[in-house]
Amino acid sequence: MKLNDTQKAFVEELLARMTLEEKIGQMNQESPSIVGGFDVPFSELIEMLTDGRISQEEFGRIMANAKQDYHEDDIRAGRVGSMMVNDPRKNNELQKIAVEESRLGIPLIIGFDVIHGFRSVFPIAIAEACSFDDALFEKTAHMAAAESRAHGISWNFAPMIDAARDSRWGRVSEGPGEDPLLGSRFARAKIRGLQNDRSSPLRYVAACTKHYAAYGACESGRDYNTVSMSVSNFYNVYLPAFRAAMDEGAATVMAAFNDLNGVPCTVNRWLLREVLKKELGLEGFVVSDANAIRECVAHGIAADDRDAGVQAALAGMDMDMGTHIYRDYLKAEVEKGTVPMAVIDEAVRRILSVKVWLGLFEDPYVPEALIEAYEKGLPEEHAALCRKAAEESMVLLKNEGNLLPLRRGQKISLVGRLADNVNEVCGAWAMAWKPEDCVSILTGLKEAGAEVSYFPCGGPEGEIDFEEADRACREGDVIVAVVGETDAMSGEASSKADISLPGGQRALLERLLQSGKPVAAVLMNGRPLALGWEAEHLPAILEAWHLGIRMGDAVAAALLGDVNPSGKLSSSFPSVTGQCPVYYNHPSTGRPGSRSKFTSRYLDAPWEALFPFGYGLSYTDFAYEDLRVCENGDALEITVRLKNTGEREGTEVAQLYMQDVSASLVRPVKELKDYRRVRLGPGEAEEVRFTLPKKDMGFYDNEGKYRLEDGLFRLYVGGSSRSCLMQEIRIAF
Ligand code: BGC
Repeated sequence: MKLNDTQKAFVEELLARMTLEEKIGQMNQESPSIVGGFDVPFSELIEMLTDGRISQEEFGRIMANAKQDYHEDDIRAGRVGSMMVNDPRKNNELQKIAVEESRLGIPLIIGFDVIHGFRSVFPIAIAEACSFDDALFEKTAHMAAAESRAHGISWNFAPMIDAARDSRWGRVSEGPGEDPLLGSRFARAKIRGLQNDRSSPLRYVAACTKHYAAYGACESGRDYNTVSMSVSNFYNVYLPAFRAAMDEGAATVMAAFNDLNGVPCTVNRWLLREVLKKELGLEGFVVSDANAIRECVAHGIAADDRDAGVQAALAGMDMDMGTHIYRDYLKAEVEKGTVPMAVIDEAVRRILSVKVWLGLFEDPYVPEALIEAYEKGLPEEHAALCRKAAEESMVLLKNEGNLLPLRRGQKISLVGRLADNVNEVCGAWAMAWKPEDCVSILTGLKEAGAEVSYFPCGGPEGEIDFEEADRACREGDVIVAVVGETDAMSGEASSKADISLPGGQRALLERLLQSGKPVAAVLMNGRPLALGWEAEHLPAILEAWHLGIRMGDAVAAALLGDVNPSGKLSSSFPSVTGQCPVYYNHPSTGRPGSRSKFTSRYLDAPWEALFPFGYGLSYTDFAYEDLRVCENGDALEITVRLKNTGEREGTEVAQLYMQDVSASLVRPVKELKDYRRVRLGPGEAEEVRFTLPKKDMGFYDNEGKYRLEDGLFRLYVGGSSRSCLMQEIRIAF
């Protein structure tokens, strides 16, 4: 995000004309407040949802009928800088008040959680990252930007780029997985897709990279929990995606709920001022997470709301999401001198700059014709991209005896409540999907011409109907069991202490297997699951995540062999929950896990991941040979011969890893350095070439300084983080 001199001058002139109240108004974000319309108080409604007295669906219906206050008077008075609404006509209405009825006519920046698509819902991020396809990451973000703008939203609270290695944390679903390099590439592509098409103000939005920082490391995978880590770990694992996003020009950042080494990110001056604004060079602004300024009181770091607001402002938090603390207290604090006017001016300058860059002063409204166009239905090319993204995101985890793809003419018994469900295909944080756009797995199979009978039998919640399962087994030649998690089982506030298949689904699988018929499982879930039992007993497992509105088409195409799965895991899967956090790039220990007792292992579970990062099968086979590594000036040139040794076309994700064998700090056993998607016909081979700049072979120390240290390096290339060819090379930088 860059402003030209005229735009900068415009911001300064505007700032000079603003009263202190108007400035603080810009720092205040509102969302519609619920003011009634139901029979019980709102707080009780939330409790009813939490303790299960009403379902998520019922809650949604009640909310849709609730009376809402959109704060029109506050907008008119210049007390609101940003709103969070997704109805395009309502957004035009609110924007009109800001532009035509407030004293200075400053448009609102309207933000929303468009995390993996708006009406076109793409796979959840952890799934999309399995495609290892930067071009796809960019395209889906670009489409999300256009759809957001068409609904009056110019600020997407995405991408979520928290590195996450503990799958007990429900929010692993929202981000690109465990690896800092994949996370950084994902971040860059998302920023380009969201921000870079400046051909029309209706084609781009401001990205909001979140959650800054290290939220994914919340202790024991429990949401909102504390985070403690070394500077080096922070700089090498959790910061890189944010650094990449800033290099790509991300306009805004959302701070995380957690504390980092004792200081909540919301009031963490080092994180916000020193690292984010100075070192990483954020040009736009930082917003708090919802209610997070007030939560500093509960953290025990602020005496009261006023104190929390002062600390946040001084730390460099530019906008308050949802508490009104800035609105209610900052003016008096500026007048008292606790908060210098320069702090307020800096925040407002940043916020206005983003509004100017977005073109909101020239084009604040959504044209009615565009709203009507979306009301007519989802454009065909949007649905097609949803399907392509879904197809690329599936990961084939097991396929004994080539059970998959199914043969045409086989009678399929489709089992599991999730298989005929359009509410679940989109997963967490999908709020604008329409049932008529969604394709369930059952519908996908029928439309693809499969001979399929459906037996719900049960799902992640509730009872299992074993008699129906027996019927399914009697009637089908092959059983496809769709099992996993509901959309509400991952995402925010959805941490779990047991990440094996929920409910009676394992018992259902056991019953199906007892029939002796072949059983393929399709997993529909928002996090890596602990699949030790399933991997041992089921002949075939297709990881299909929550793939978005065209999930059913994509899964049917993979099951029937019209699509050859090519995804590779963006996160490692454990055998049992107790292995969490489990990730491929862990620091070397003095006693690497092995069969012998006094090593880094468990007595009752494997020490390694069941399915590691980068792993994924295909309906064809790939062979790697002839790995060569040589120095070429400032870079290493790495080549390998990749051959499709099977009988059908397929795409392989070739992965380059590195290990710094001896360094001044303990380094990971392997680190991903590059990857390439390679499409090969049967019997076809290609020389895959990677160029690894030597400057990328270093690491950050505990002062946050980047170090390149001479010595021995191992370079690995292969089709997963576990199975690779290896060459050693000694480097002097
Ligand atoms: C979440 C954010 C989200 C915000 C606004 C918070 O609870 O942590 O990721 O952007 O709400 O909806």
